[in-house]
Amino acid sequence: MPIKLTVNGRSSTVDVPPDTPLLWVIRDVLNLHGTKYGCGIGQCGACTVHMGGQPIKSCMIPVSSAGNAPITTIEGLAPNVAHPLQQAWQEIDVPQCGYCQAGQIMAAAALLAKQPKPTDTDIDNAMNGNLCRCGTYVRIRAAIHKAASGMSRATKAAALAPARSGNVEGGL
Ligand code: FES
Ligand code: FES
Repeated sequence: MPIKLTVNGRSSTVDVPPDTPLLWVIRDVLNLHGTKYGCGIGQCGACTVHMGGQPIKSCMIPVSSAGNAPITTIEGLAPNVAHPLQQAWQEIDVPQCGYCQAGQIMAAAALLAKQPKPTDTDIDNAMNGNLCRCGTYVRIRAAIHKAASGMSRATKAAALAPARSGNVEGGL
């Protein structure tokens, strides 16, 4: 059954059964492999993407329920890994094996969009559903704080100076 989706700002029509998990469509139909399969039962967060700006576990969402809500995956979070979280992740060297990290960053991005200066408790609550078998939780928390402070500096700088654009290379 043809289903229309908007993923990372691009419209697509996918021809899959309506109960196909969104994760399978993202990975196997749209070939966006940054979003990972971990458990398939909503327990690990490796498959976290944004749907309508909210973090969701894409293994648990039938593709037909996306409707018109825009979907963002790690590939669409920012061009050239320029999101402050991606930069903080690189600066702090957060990942170990890396498998969970796209989901971690997507959950963190949703948190910062809602709470630009989260406390440790806010972070722990927001990241509660994202597991890391390598135990990188301390670095994840540090990177979220670093990104939050960078974002607030950037906001202040933007208020004081003409806008500039910049790119960094890479992709998680
Ligand atoms: S793969 Fe979706 S929560 Fe684990
Ligand atoms: S970095 Fe290995 S599972 Fe998180």
